[in-house]
Amino acid sequence: MKLSRRNFGKLASALTVLPPLDAFAATPYRLRLGPADVPLVLDKGPRTAVWAFNAQVPGPLLRFRQGERLLVEVENGLQEATTVHWHGLRPPASMDGVPYLSHPPIEPGQRFLYDFDLLDAGTFWYHPHLNSSEQLGRGLHGALIVDEISPPEVDRDVLWVLDDWRLDQEAQIAPFGGNMHDASHAGRIGNAITVNGSIEETFQVFSGERVRLRLVNVANARNFGLRFDRLEPWLIALDGQPTSPRRLPGNRVLLGAGQRADLIIDMTGEPGQRQVVIDDAYGRDYAFEMMQLVYAEEPVGGLAGSGDPAALPANPIAEPDLANAETHSLIFEGGAMGGLKGAMMDGTYRNMRELAQAGKLWAINGAVIGDAYKDPPLLALKQDRSYVLQLENRTAFPHPIHLHGHGFRVISRNGETMDPPPMRDTTLLMPDERQEIAFVADNPGQWMLHCHILEHQETAMMGVVSVS
Ligand code: C2O
Ligand code: CU
Repeated sequence: MKLSRRNFGKLASALTVLPPLDAFAATPYRLRLGPADVPLVLDKGPRTAVWAFNAQVPGPLLRFRQGERLLVEVENGLQEATTVHWHGLRPPASMDGVPYLSHPPIEPGQRFLYDFDLLDAGTFWYHPHLNSSEQLGRGLHGALIVDEISPPEVDRDVLWVLDDWRLDQEAQIAPFGGNMHDASHAGRIGNAITVNGSIEETFQVFSGERVRLRLVNVANARNFGLRFDRLEPWLIALDGQPTSPRRLPGNRVLLGAGQRADLIIDMTGEPGQRQVVIDDAYGRDYAFEMMQLVYAEEPVGGLAGSGDPAALPANPIAEPDLANAETHSLIFEGGAMGGLKGAMMDGTYRNMRELAQAGKLWAINGAVIGDAYKDPPLLALKQDRSYVLQLENRTAFPHPIHLHGHGFRVISRNGETMDPPPMRDTTLLMPDERQEIAFVADNPGQWMLHCHILEHQETAMMGVVSVS
């Protein structure tokens, strides 16, 4: 894959020290979607016209404590319909923000009140679920953190929202729509990377501090593969769900679109030193310096060196009963170099040319989802039963596969049992890879299962899983 050179200089960092817990509880928090201008490229270029939540990119950080209620009133100030999906949370289906499946689209000028209990602690995010490639690609997304009842002890809790933009020379967003090349290949990969909504070069750290770093990949399509080299972070959560703390192989974390990771990092460098974070998601030839960690001249001292971090408490997600689980297979096909000849759509077989004319480039189990979700569901599951889904990628591209409304364990990859099997909501399925995921279908309703490369989702790499 070819990555274009970045137009706006070395990429990098921006620091958010998270604000104290906000009391979102009593009155609804207001989120307004609308056009805005933001300084994505700072002094290196003009302001960028975006679509944003409350005129900010990323949208405001929504922060709660586990067990609280999310009460958010969304107002649509766009010229087109929208919805808001709470990625990784497990709301009732009516609050999941999928147009038609959950609730009707929110038309321009209309409001919708999202109201549900926050069952799980962790690092999540929110974004529209309509015209997703364009709405997210123009800047509509934000992080949502649910704090543990007793969070782990760290000196700083830091959030990096990682994004990728396709900008022109004037720092304006390149047009959307009709790009079948993106949709049939790796999706809309951009040329400018932002952390927390801006292109910067350095991120200040303090010698001796222990940081919890929350990474959220909100890009339309890009994978991030961050290498921390000498810092040796511990991984403590994936997609918001606790893992037993462990060092990362190669000190590297790979995040497909939609995925998150929580790390604990002891800043062990000397005051005044610099350490680089490399992104090598697309191999050594395309590796670049993503960020420079710059140590302040004054050490603060802190919790660095205080031993292995404690595990986060598990979230109340039911464990699948593998011995009695029912197995289904999901085969992903299509795209460029995928060799797909045709597939069923709306009850008839169509060849690849007919499918492409209908805007469908991908198929699951030899079928392509028709419009307006009228087809029978991809999977009809019985409530509270355990399921194993065998995912198989017969395409030439990686796909971050996301299931709504449930957490699942990734129990094997290419036949090899995962130990321990991580709990996730999005799993990155590499070309030719097979994975087994397992979960309890305990959240009744109609749920999306789709690729989080939004250009793939929009060209039919998606389906409906019904639980009743
Ligand atoms: Cu992050 Cu179906 O969504
Ligand atoms: Cu995909």
